[in-house]
Amino acid sequence: MSSEAIHLTNDQQSYREKYPELGTGPVPVEPYMSEEYLSKECEHIFSKMWLMVGRTTRLKNVGDFFVKNVECLNKSIVVAKGKDQEVRAFYNVCRHRGTNVASGEGNCKYFTCRFHGWVYDTDGSIAHVPEEDQFYQLDKSKLNLESVHCEIWKGFIFVNFSDKPRETLREQLAEYCERFEDFPFEEMPVAGRWGATLKANWKLFQDAFQEGYHVSTVHAGTIGEYFTGKRNPNCRPYYLGLFKRNRSMSFSYNPEFAPHPSEIFAVKAGGSLSQGDAAKTYALPGINPGNDPYYSFDVNAVFPNWLCDTSAGFFFIHEFWPIDAITTRWEASLHFLPTNSPSQYISQMQSVTLLRDAFREDIATSEGSQAGLMSGALREINFSDVEIPCRHQYQVIQELIDNPL
Ligand code: FES
Ligand SMILES: [Fe+2]
Repeated sequence: MSSEAIHLTNDQQSYREKYPELGTGPVPVEPYMSEEYLSKECEHIFSKMWLMVGRTTRLKNVGDFFVKNVECLNKSIVVAKGKDQEVRAFYNVCRHRGTNVASGEGNCKYFTCRFHGWVYDTDGSIAHVPEEDQFYQLDKSKLNLESVHCEIWKGFIFVNFSDKPRETLREQLAEYCERFEDFPFEEMPVAGRWGATLKANWKLFQDAFQEGYHVSTVHAGTIGEYFTGKRNPNCRPYYLGLFKRNRSMSFSYNPEFAPHPSEIFAVKAGGSLSQGDAAKTYALPGINPGNDPYYSFDVNAVFPNWLCDTSAGFFFIHEFWPIDAITTRWEASLHFLPTNSPSQYISQMQSVTLLRDAFREDIATSEGSQAGLMSGALREINFSDVEIPCRHQYQVIQELIDNPL
Protein backbone atom coordinates (compact mmCIF):
# COMPACT_ATOMS: atom_id res chain seq x y z
CA MET A 1 0.00 0.00 0.00
CA SER A 2 1.26 3.48 -0.81
CA SER A 3 2.58 5.26 2.24
CA GLU A 4 2.08 8.64 0.62
CA ALA A 5 -0.70 10.65 2.19
CA ILE A 6 -3.20 12.80 0.35
CA HIS A 7 -4.63 16.20 1.03
CA LEU A 8 -8.15 16.90 -0.07
CA THR A 9 -10.89 19.40 -0.04
CA ASN A 10 -14.46 18.67 -1.03
CA ASP A 11 -14.14 19.11 -4.75
CA GLN A 12 -10.87 17.23 -5.23
CA GLN A 13 -10.12 13.62 -6.13
CA SER A 14 -11.67 10.75 -4.22
CA TYR A 15 -9.72 8.73 -1.69
CA ARG A 16 -10.57 5.61 -3.69
CA GLU A 17 -8.50 6.86 -6.62
CA LYS A 18 -5.50 7.13 -4.35
CA TYR A 19 -5.97 3.71 -2.76
CA PRO A 20 -7.50 1.52 -5.51
CA GLU A 21 -6.14 -1.65 -3.86
CA LEU A 22 -8.71 -1.26 -1.08
CA GLY A 23 -11.54 -1.81 -3.55
CA THR A 24 -15.01 -0.33 -3.41
CA GLY A 25 -17.27 -3.34 -2.84
CA PRO A 26 -19.36 -4.06 0.23
CA VAL A 27 -17.75 -5.57 3.33
CA PRO A 28 -19.29 -8.64 5.03
CA VAL A 29 -20.97 -8.16 8.44
CA GLU A 30 -19.39 -11.30 9.91
CA PRO A 31 -16.17 -9.61 11.14
CA TYR A 32 -18.34 -7.26 13.21
CA MET A 33 -20.38 -9.90 15.03
CA SER A 34 -18.90 -13.39 14.86
CA GLU A 35 -17.17 -15.12 17.78
CA GLU A 36 -15.30 -17.25 15.29
CA TYR A 37 -13.90 -14.16 13.63
CA LEU A 38 -12.88 -12.70 16.99
CA SER A 39 -11.03 -15.91 17.85
CA LYS A 40 -9.04 -15.48 14.62
CA GLU A 41 -8.27 -11.87 15.56
CA CYS A 42 -7.09 -13.08 18.96
CA GLU A 43 -4.89 -15.76 17.48
CA HIS A 44 -3.31 -13.65 14.76
CA ILE A 45 -3.42 -10.14 16.18
CA PHE A 46 -3.98 -9.74 19.92
CA SER A 47 -1.70 -12.67 20.83
CA LYS A 48 1.12 -11.47 18.61
CA MET A 49 1.15 -7.68 18.46
CA TRP A 50 2.38 -5.08 20.93
CA LEU A 51 -0.65 -3.85 22.87
CA MET A 52 -0.75 -0.43 24.55
CA VAL A 53 -1.90 -0.93 28.14
CA GLY A 54 -1.39 2.43 29.84
CA ARG A 55 0.94 5.35 30.46
CA THR A 56 3.99 5.66 32.66
CA THR A 57 2.36 8.67 34.35
CA ARG A 58 0.27 6.08 36.26
CA LEU A 59 3.50 4.65 37.71
CA LYS A 60 5.30 7.64 39.19
CA ASN A 61 6.56 6.03 42.41
CA VAL A 62 8.22 2.75 43.31
CA GLY A 63 5.45 0.27 44.08
CA ASP A 64 2.83 1.98 41.89
CA PHE A 65 0.95 -0.59 39.87
CA PHE A 66 -2.16 -1.18 37.79
CA VAL A 67 -3.92 -4.31 36.60
CA LYS A 68 -4.96 -4.66 32.99
CA ASN A 69 -7.38 -7.35 31.92
CA VAL A 70 -7.32 -8.59 28.34
CA GLU A 71 -10.54 -10.57 28.39
CA CYS A 72 -10.42 -11.81 24.82
CA LEU A 73 -7.22 -13.69 25.61
CA ASN A 74 -8.33 -14.68 29.15
CA LYS A 75 -5.37 -12.81 30.51
CA SER A 76 -4.81 -10.41 33.37
CA ILE A 77 -1.51 -8.65 33.91
CA VAL A 78 0.04 -6.45 36.57
CA VAL A 79 2.15 -3.52 35.40
CA ALA A 80 4.36 -2.22 38.21
CA LYS A 81 7.35 -0.02 38.98
CA GLY A 82 10.00 -1.95 40.93
CA LYS A 83 12.53 -0.64 43.46
CA ASP A 84 15.03 -0.25 40.62
CA GLN A 85 12.56 2.19 38.90
CA GLU A 86 11.99 -0.34 36.10
CA VAL A 87 8.47 -0.78 34.74
CA ARG A 88 7.60 -4.45 34.26
CA ALA A 89 4.57 -6.50 33.32
CA PHE A 90 3.75 -9.94 34.65
CA TYR A 91 0.83 -12.31 34.68
CA ASN A 92 -1.57 -11.59 37.51
CA VAL A 93 -1.39 -15.26 38.45
CA CYS A 94 -0.01 -16.64 41.71
CA ARG A 95 2.61 -19.37 41.19
CA HIS A 96 0.94 -21.52 43.83
CA ARG A 97 -2.52 -22.29 42.50
CA GLY A 98 -3.26 -19.45 40.12
CA THR A 99 -5.22 -16.85 42.11
CA ASN A 100 -4.78 -13.21 41.08
CA VAL A 101 -2.24 -11.32 43.18
CA ALA A 102 -3.55 -7.77 42.55
CA SER A 103 -6.62 -5.88 41.43
CA GLY A 104 -7.37 -2.30 40.38
CA GLU A 105 -4.48 0.08 40.82
CA GLY A 106 -2.51 1.61 43.67
CA ASN A 107 0.78 1.43 45.48
CA CYS A 108 2.18 -1.46 47.49
CA LYS A 109 5.42 -2.80 48.93
CA TYR A 110 4.55 -6.36 47.99
CA PHE A 111 1.85 -8.28 46.15
CA THR A 112 0.30 -10.80 48.49
CA CYS A 113 -1.93 -13.55 47.17
CA ARG A 114 -5.16 -13.56 49.12
CA PHE A 115 -5.58 -17.34 48.90
CA HIS A 116 -2.66 -18.73 50.96
CA GLY A 117 -0.55 -15.62 51.34
CA TRP A 118 2.36 -16.12 48.97
CA VAL A 119 4.24 -12.83 48.69
CA TYR A 120 5.92 -11.28 45.63
CA ASP A 121 8.16 -8.25 45.31
CA THR A 122 7.09 -5.38 43.03
CA ASP A 123 9.57 -6.71 40.43
CA GLY A 124 7.59 -9.97 40.38
CA SER A 125 10.15 -12.06 42.28
CA ILE A 126 8.95 -14.45 44.97
CA ALA A 127 9.58 -12.99 48.43
CA HIS A 128 7.89 -15.38 50.86
CA VAL A 129 6.09 -18.73 50.91
CA PRO A 130 4.25 -19.33 54.19
CA GLU A 131 5.16 -22.71 55.71
CA GLU A 132 7.64 -23.28 52.96
CA ASP A 133 8.99 -26.43 54.63
CA GLN A 134 5.61 -28.14 54.10
CA PHE A 135 6.22 -28.31 50.37
CA TYR A 136 8.16 -31.13 48.73
CA GLN A 137 10.40 -30.01 45.87
CA LEU A 138 9.82 -26.29 45.76
CA ASP A 139 12.33 -24.56 43.46
CA LYS A 140 11.98 -20.91 44.45
CA SER A 141 14.02 -19.78 41.46
CA LYS A 142 11.05 -20.84 39.33
CA LEU A 143 8.35 -19.15 41.40
CA ASN A 144 8.60 -15.53 40.26
CA LEU A 145 5.47 -14.17 38.66
CA GLU A 146 5.57 -15.08 34.96
CA SER A 147 6.82 -12.07 33.07
CA VAL A 148 5.30 -10.57 29.92
CA HIS A 149 7.33 -8.64 27.30
CA CYS A 150 7.02 -4.98 28.21
CA GLU A 151 8.37 -1.90 26.44
CA ILE A 152 7.85 1.83 26.61
CA TRP A 153 7.61 4.41 23.84
CA LYS A 154 7.07 8.10 24.64
CA GLY A 155 5.49 7.25 28.00
CA PHE A 156 3.12 4.61 26.56
CA ILE A 157 3.53 1.11 28.01
CA PHE A 158 3.16 -1.84 25.64
CA VAL A 159 3.04 -5.58 26.30
CA ASN A 160 3.38 -8.52 23.95
CA PHE A 161 2.05 -11.95 24.90
CA SER A 162 3.93 -14.01 22.32
CA ASP A 163 6.99 -15.98 23.45
CA LYS A 164 9.07 -14.20 20.87
CA PRO A 165 7.53 -11.03 19.37
CA ARG A 166 7.53 -11.15 15.56
CA GLU A 167 8.22 -7.43 15.30
CA THR A 168 9.93 -4.89 17.50
CA LEU A 169 7.72 -2.24 19.03
CA ARG A 170 9.24 0.38 16.75
CA GLU A 171 8.60 -1.77 13.70
CA GLN A 172 4.97 -2.04 14.71
CA LEU A 173 4.59 1.69 15.43
CA ALA A 174 6.24 2.33 12.06
CA GLU A 175 5.63 5.84 10.70
CA TYR A 176 4.50 7.23 14.06
CA CYS A 177 7.98 6.80 15.62
CA GLU A 178 9.52 9.48 13.48
CA ARG A 179 6.47 11.72 13.22
CA PHE A 180 5.92 11.96 16.96
CA GLU A 181 9.54 11.73 18.10
CA ASP A 182 9.30 15.27 19.54
CA PHE A 183 5.64 15.38 20.61
CA PRO A 184 5.73 15.79 24.41
CA PHE A 185 3.30 12.95 25.27
CA GLU A 186 5.24 12.16 28.47
CA GLU A 187 4.84 15.70 29.78
CA MET A 188 1.08 15.94 29.35
CA PRO A 189 -0.96 14.81 32.35
CA VAL A 190 -4.47 13.47 32.19
CA ALA A 191 -7.24 16.09 32.31
CA GLY A 192 -10.22 13.75 31.91
CA ARG A 193 -10.90 10.06 31.65
CA TRP A 194 -13.93 8.12 30.40
CA GLY A 195 -14.82 4.48 29.98
CA ALA A 196 -17.70 2.16 29.22
CA THR A 197 -18.47 -1.47 28.51
CA LEU A 198 -20.75 -1.33 25.53
CA LYS A 199 -22.66 -3.68 23.30
CA ALA A 200 -20.73 -3.23 20.09
CA ASN A 201 -17.91 -5.00 18.29
CA TRP A 202 -14.53 -3.40 18.99
CA LYS A 203 -13.91 -2.52 15.32
CA LEU A 204 -17.42 -1.21 14.81
CA PHE A 205 -16.93 1.14 17.75
CA GLN A 206 -13.45 2.21 16.63
CA ASP A 207 -14.93 3.03 13.22
CA ALA A 208 -17.10 5.67 14.91
CA PHE A 209 -13.91 7.61 15.65
CA GLN A 210 -12.19 7.30 12.29
CA GLU A 211 -14.71 8.86 9.93
CA GLY A 212 -16.33 12.29 9.89
CA TYR A 213 -19.37 11.38 7.78
CA HIS A 214 -21.56 11.09 10.91
CA VAL A 215 -20.45 14.33 12.55
CA SER A 216 -23.15 16.66 11.19
CA THR A 217 -25.91 14.22 12.18
CA VAL A 218 -24.87 12.36 15.35
CA HIS A 219 -23.10 15.37 16.83
CA ALA A 220 -25.54 18.08 15.73
CA GLY A 221 -26.10 19.04 19.38
CA THR A 222 -22.44 19.06 20.47
CA ILE A 223 -19.48 19.37 18.11
CA GLY A 224 -21.27 19.16 14.73
CA GLU A 225 -21.19 22.85 13.86
CA TYR A 226 -17.59 23.17 14.90
CA PHE A 227 -16.48 20.72 12.21
CA THR A 228 -19.11 21.02 9.49
CA GLY A 229 -20.45 23.95 7.50
CA LYS A 230 -20.46 25.27 3.95
CA ARG A 231 -16.75 24.62 3.42
CA ASN A 232 -16.89 20.97 4.49
CA PRO A 233 -20.45 19.71 5.03
CA ASN A 234 -19.49 16.05 5.47
CA CYS A 235 -16.39 16.54 7.56
CA ARG A 236 -14.00 15.09 5.03
CA PRO A 237 -10.48 14.85 6.39
CA TYR A 238 -8.15 17.37 4.78
CA TYR A 239 -5.27 14.93 5.17
CA LEU A 240 -5.51 11.15 4.91
CA GLY A 241 -2.69 8.61 5.15
CA LEU A 242 -3.43 4.89 4.97
CA PHE A 243 -0.26 3.02 5.82
CA LYS A 244 0.71 -0.64 6.10
CA ARG A 245 -1.44 -1.08 9.22
CA ASN A 246 -1.84 2.36 10.77
CA ARG A 247 -3.98 5.15 9.43
CA SER A 248 -4.03 8.86 10.08
CA MET A 249 -6.29 11.72 9.10
CA SER A 250 -6.65 15.38 9.99
CA PHE A 251 -9.93 17.20 10.39
CA SER A 252 -10.58 20.89 9.83
CA TYR A 253 -12.69 23.28 11.85
CA ASN A 254 -15.57 25.19 10.30
CA PRO A 255 -14.34 28.79 9.79
CA GLU A 256 -17.94 30.05 10.13
CA PHE A 257 -18.38 28.50 13.55
CA ALA A 258 -19.55 31.04 16.13
CA PRO A 259 -18.08 29.99 19.47
CA HIS A 260 -20.11 30.14 22.67
CA PRO A 261 -18.88 32.48 25.44
CA SER A 262 -17.51 29.48 27.37
CA GLU A 263 -15.53 28.41 24.31
CA ILE A 264 -14.11 31.90 23.81
CA PHE A 265 -12.95 31.86 27.39
CA ALA A 266 -11.55 28.33 27.13
CA VAL A 267 -9.51 29.17 24.05
CA LYS A 268 -8.06 32.30 25.64
CA ALA A 269 -7.22 30.52 28.85
CA GLY A 270 -5.37 27.54 27.52
CA GLY A 271 -6.51 25.78 24.39
CA SER A 272 -9.61 23.80 23.66
CA LEU A 273 -11.09 21.35 21.22
CA SER A 274 -12.89 24.26 19.57
CA GLN A 275 -9.93 26.60 19.34
CA GLY A 276 -10.06 27.42 15.62
CA ASP A 277 -7.24 29.72 14.55
CA ALA A 278 -5.86 29.90 18.07
CA ALA A 279 -4.49 26.41 17.47
CA LYS A 280 -1.39 28.06 16.03
CA THR A 281 -0.55 29.33 19.51
CA TYR A 282 -0.42 25.83 20.95
CA ALA A 283 1.17 23.99 18.00
CA LEU A 284 3.20 20.88 18.83
CA PRO A 285 5.62 18.78 16.74
CA GLY A 286 4.03 16.15 14.49
CA ILE A 287 0.54 17.63 14.25
CA ASN A 288 -1.19 18.86 11.10
CA PRO A 289 0.86 16.83 8.58
CA GLY A 290 -1.20 18.24 5.71
CA ASN A 291 -0.61 21.90 6.69
CA ASP A 292 -4.33 22.52 6.73
CA PRO A 293 -4.99 26.26 7.17
CA TYR A 294 -8.15 25.35 9.13
CA TYR A 295 -6.52 22.53 11.08
CA SER A 296 -8.33 21.15 14.11
CA PHE A 297 -6.97 17.72 15.12
CA ASP A 298 -5.47 14.47 13.87
CA VAL A 299 -6.95 11.00 14.29
CA ASN A 300 -4.07 8.52 14.46
CA ALA A 301 -5.12 4.87 14.48
CA VAL A 302 -2.31 2.82 15.97
CA PHE A 303 -2.62 -0.83 15.10
CA PRO A 304 -4.28 -2.85 16.42
CA ASN A 305 -6.71 -1.32 18.88
CA TRP A 306 -6.09 2.27 19.90
CA LEU A 307 -6.25 5.82 18.66
CA CYS A 308 -3.78 8.48 19.68
CA ASP A 309 -5.46 11.68 18.49
CA THR A 310 -3.18 14.69 18.52
CA SER A 311 -3.81 18.41 18.36
CA ALA A 312 -2.39 21.79 19.31
CA GLY A 313 -1.79 21.67 23.07
CA PHE A 314 -3.55 18.39 23.78
CA PHE A 315 -4.05 14.78 22.75
CA PHE A 316 -6.62 12.12 23.52
CA ILE A 317 -6.53 8.34 23.49
CA HIS A 318 -9.16 5.70 22.84
CA GLU A 319 -8.54 2.02 23.66
CA PHE A 320 -10.88 -0.65 22.27
CA TRP A 321 -10.68 -3.97 24.11
CA PRO A 322 -12.88 -6.81 22.85
CA ILE A 323 -14.59 -8.76 25.65
CA ASP A 324 -16.49 -10.89 23.19
CA ALA A 325 -17.49 -10.39 19.55
CA ILE A 326 -20.19 -7.87 20.41
CA THR A 327 -18.95 -6.37 23.68
CA THR A 328 -16.14 -3.84 24.00
CA ARG A 329 -14.47 -2.23 26.95
CA TRP A 330 -13.62 1.30 25.87
CA GLU A 331 -11.19 3.45 27.80
CA ALA A 332 -10.44 7.03 26.81
CA SER A 333 -8.53 9.95 28.24
CA LEU A 334 -7.69 13.56 27.39
CA HIS A 335 -4.27 15.07 28.08
CA PHE A 336 -3.15 18.69 28.09
CA LEU A 337 0.16 20.41 28.68
CA PRO A 338 0.51 20.92 32.46
CA THR A 339 -1.88 23.45 34.00
CA ASN A 340 -0.43 26.33 35.95
CA SER A 341 -3.45 28.51 36.58
CA PRO A 342 -7.08 28.02 37.66
CA SER A 343 -8.32 29.56 34.41
CA GLN A 344 -6.36 26.98 32.41
CA TYR A 345 -7.92 24.26 34.50
CA ILE A 346 -11.42 25.60 33.80
CA SER A 347 -10.52 25.85 30.12
CA GLN A 348 -9.51 22.18 30.06
CA MET A 349 -12.74 21.14 31.76
CA GLN A 350 -14.67 22.75 28.90
CA SER A 351 -13.05 20.28 26.49
CA VAL A 352 -13.50 17.38 28.91
CA THR A 353 -17.24 18.10 29.07
CA LEU A 354 -17.63 18.63 25.34
CA LEU A 355 -15.86 15.37 24.50
CA ARG A 356 -17.81 13.48 27.15
CA ASP A 357 -21.09 14.49 25.53
CA ALA A 358 -19.86 13.74 22.00
CA PHE A 359 -18.56 10.30 23.05
CA ARG A 360 -21.94 9.46 24.58
CA GLU A 361 -23.51 10.17 21.21
CA ASP A 362 -21.02 7.81 19.53
CA ILE A 363 -21.80 5.04 22.05
CA ALA A 364 -25.54 5.32 21.43
CA THR A 365 -25.29 5.08 17.64
CA SER A 366 -22.72 2.28 17.75
CA GLU A 367 -24.87 0.15 20.03
CA GLY A 368 -27.77 0.85 17.66
CA SER A 369 -25.70 -0.32 14.66
CA GLN A 370 -24.64 -3.47 16.47
CA ALA A 371 -28.22 -4.33 17.38
CA GLY A 372 -29.17 -3.88 13.74
CA LEU A 373 -26.40 -6.17 12.52
CA MET A 374 -27.41 -8.80 15.09
CA SER A 375 -30.95 -8.81 13.69
CA GLY A 376 -29.65 -10.57 10.60
CA ALA A 377 -31.24 -8.01 8.29
CA LEU A 378 -27.91 -7.09 6.65
CA ARG A 379 -25.34 -9.33 5.01
CA GLU A 380 -22.99 -6.54 4.00
CA ILE A 381 -21.92 -3.03 4.87
CA ASN A 382 -21.38 -0.34 2.23
CA PHE A 383 -18.64 2.09 3.11
CA SER A 384 -18.55 5.40 1.23
CA ASP A 385 -15.41 7.05 -0.10
CA VAL A 386 -15.07 9.16 3.02
CA GLU A 387 -15.36 6.04 5.21
CA ILE A 388 -12.22 4.57 3.63
CA PRO A 389 -10.43 4.36 7.02
CA CYS A 390 -13.10 1.82 8.14
CA ARG A 391 -12.52 -0.18 4.96
CA HIS A 392 -8.78 -0.01 5.57
CA GLN A 393 -9.16 -1.35 9.12
CA TYR A 394 -11.23 -4.28 7.85
CA GLN A 395 -8.72 -5.08 5.09
CA VAL A 396 -5.63 -4.86 7.30
CA ILE A 397 -7.15 -7.31 9.79
CA GLN A 398 -8.39 -9.66 7.09
CA GLU A 399 -4.93 -9.63 5.53
CA LEU A 400 -3.31 -10.65 8.84
CA ILE A 401 -5.83 -13.47 9.25
CA ASP A 402 -5.24 -14.70 5.69
CA ASN A 403 -1.46 -14.31 5.85
CA PRO A 404 -0.45 -14.63 9.51
CA LEU A 405 2.72 -13.01 10.77
S1 FES B 1 -3.03 -19.53 45.19
FE1 FES B 1 -1.77 -17.91 45.77
S2 FES B 1 -1.06 -18.48 47.69
FE2 FES B 1 -2.24 -20.16 47.08
FE1 LIG C 1 -18.45 10.73 16.59
